[in-house]
Amino acid sequence: MTAPTLDVYLSDEDLTAALRSDATRGLTADPKWLPPKWFYDARGSELFERITELPEYYPTRTERALLERVVGDIARTAQAEVLVELGAGSAAKTRLLLSALTAEGPLKTYVPQDVSSAALRAAAEQVAAEFPALAVHGVVSDFTDTLHNLPGGGRRMIAFLGGTIGNLVPDERADFLAGIRDVLEPGERLLLGAGLVIEPEVLVPAYDDAAGVTAEFNRNVLHVLNQRLRADFEPEKFAHVALWDAEREWIEMRLAATEDMTVTVADLDLTVHFARGEQLRTEISAKFRVDGLDGELAAAGFRTERVWTDPDDRFALVLAARV
Ligand code: AVJ
Repeated sequence: MTAPTLDVYLSDEDLTAALRSDATRGLTADPKWLPPKWFYDARGSELFERITELPEYYPTRTERALLERVVGDIARTAQAEVLVELGAGSAAKTRLLLSALTAEGPLKTYVPQDVSSAALRAAAEQVAAEFPALAVHGVVSDFTDTLHNLPGGGRRMIAFLGGTIGNLVPDERADFLAGIRDVLEPGERLLLGAGLVIEPEVLVPAYDDAAGVTAEFNRNVLHVLNQRLRADFEPEKFAHVALWDAEREWIEMRLAATEDMTVTVADLDLTVHFARGEQLRTEISAKFRVDGLDGELAAAGFRTERVWTDPDDRFALVLAARV
């Protein structure tokens, strides 16, 4: 086994600068908003892991069962030599993919990408120990602007799983998919996991669970601002809101101020007023239709090769080739 390498394109200072800029823009906007990527400090990542085990949160287990069923097909079709996994995080799905791609194809290199260098280093070391024949090359970056730094070295497949594509609004999705297309050679592939539009009776509780774990996850973004920017939010004074926007076909998470409040963000020299009931948008989680995914991929320069869905049509895996 060769020790994994780790390229860091994102330092702690870069992260702080990005958070400062996002918080300044979002908290002075009307309505107020914050991007979902700031949920995921150590506590937020742990809360997300707990979400994936909730009875109401079907996406993770649905995608995993689907992947288990079709991963052999994916491996035989893709014949990937390099697997790039965007947002690799903690990697239960990774093992499935790596086993199939090595058993059914010529996989030589695994490139996990994530914003968290600690999580990535641990995951890279574990994979390197479990798959001693693979070269493991971690990349610490923000996937929305550092795709060009991904290493090559053979026919690639970029996997973007978990439904995280849904955190992007349509314009951002178009840019993101075009960006992936631009770094791939003709015939190289994207494996995309996306949540499908389903009945709100199942969808909404997945984002508003009875145990309140998602509410705590949502409020975690305020803890992050308190810690990283010396803000003085009182997170318990914000109520969790999860709404299904039937027109735009996305779940929107918000935090609603339960009373009038004035919050200061010391590191930004910023004072922010919240009226009682005012809502701060923290995440969109778009759901898709297979035709829509196909259309967005085509518009970005991909040809959809295969689409697999679970028996309840809640989640899709799409294998697309760069034209
Ligand atoms: C990790 C972005 C796929 O949108 O379902 C879970 C995050 N937010 N519960 C999602 C999340 C609220 C999750 N993704």
